[in-house]
Amino acid sequence: MTAESTLVKHRPVIESRNDFPILSTRMNGRDLVFLDSAASTQKPQMVIDSLRKYYSEQNANVHRGVYALSQTATHLFEQSRLKVKDFIGATSEREIVFVRGATEGINLVAQSFGRKYFKPGGEIILSQLEHHSNIVPWQMIAEEKGLAIKVIPINEKGELRMDVFEKMLSEKVQMVAVNHISNALGTINPVKKITEMAHRYHIPVLIDGAQATSHCAVDVQDIDADFYVFSGHKMFGPTGIGVLWGKEKWLDAMPPWQGGGEMIQTVTFEKTTYNELPFKFEAGTPNIAGSIALGAAIDYIGQFDMTEIHAHEQALLEYCTDKLSEIKGVKFYGTAAQKASVVSFLVEGTHPYDLGVILDKMGIAVRTGHHCTQPLMDYLGIPGTVRASMAMYNHMEDIDRLAEAVTKARLMLC
Ligand code: ALA
Repeated sequence: MTAESTLVKHRPVIESRNDFPILSTRMNGRDLVFLDSAASTQKPQMVIDSLRKYYSEQNANVHRGVYALSQTATHLFEQSRLKVKDFIGATSEREIVFVRGATEGINLVAQSFGRKYFKPGGEIILSQLEHHSNIVPWQMIAEEKGLAIKVIPINEKGELRMDVFEKMLSEKVQMVAVNHISNALGTINPVKKITEMAHRYHIPVLIDGAQATSHCAVDVQDIDADFYVFSGHKMFGPTGIGVLWGKEKWLDAMPPWQGGGEMIQTVTFEKTTYNELPFKFEAGTPNIAGSIALGAAIDYIGQFDMTEIHAHEQALLEYCTDKLSEIKGVKFYGTAAQKASVVSFLVEGTHPYDLGVILDKMGIAVRTGHHCTQPLMDYLGIPGTVRASMAMYNHMEDIDRLAEAVTKARLMLC
């Protein structure tokens, strides 16, 4: 089965800005410049319309009703699962589990896979670049099952030390979990290589793709990891919906994580049998509207050529790096050769928070702080950074506004 599709292909990426109503609003008396897409992307009209339409014309519970409305909702919900499958190149919709977001996907794997397969004395390999959501769930299960956490170090550019990683691999390692793209530094990690190296020791690999799916083409079969997770809200979809993709052999063998309706086949007080994949992992009424709108976000992305999106964002990255480096006292964190459109920086003599507040007064939204990567900030010896993160809808003018505002803020603060 493939998803139904009636899409016009390859609109120019530069046009995309007009599709996002919020980007033509004003903030603090200025035209909004949104440079915090790594935290959450804005939503195109198509996604907003999908949510409105669902609640005004299609709302009913799924997989439960014989009446037409419920059947329509079920069809749309399952259609969306097929869109996700095609979007990431999965072999079967059985491998697509709807979750609340990347965080929940990682927790699910840590709890379900970890409870079944982790053995005391083993190791879990993470990296110095991880978001808290790809650290804490592993710490929790590691503590419960008696495993140690090992960390792949980074070099001065913020790239993973693959030479060290190679030496860390052994029969003791029971999971490797790394991000595809670092949210704090923008480093694009060699996930295919990481997977290939781990698999030499038959170690399963989870990739946190939260920062990747709206910036580069993701093909889970090509990467060949065992699990890949991502969030809808970082790829122009709604909050509260995300995806866990897992190889069917693992998902089949893993026990359910949460119990409730939908994930069962039969229930008696003596014994319960579980539903087939992927429903075994979808206890309770799912986020139906969110799943359908995630499908709309995938349709939206499908209007553009991913290679062109990537090229546009790389041009923004280069321009942003050049413009900010002209400002006295700017220091960049994360200068990897393979880097997404994330620019983390500090301005000598200023605190990131103060800079963020002044930028906000000038209509510019950036994230400041540790970006949920405290171990990385500790390693870099800084409390946090100012982070400008771009998406397909940003234009060069946004960077001009940022550079102008950072220049002014520096004069005010220093
Ligand atoms: N993970 C999100 C960020 O990087 C929240 O901002």
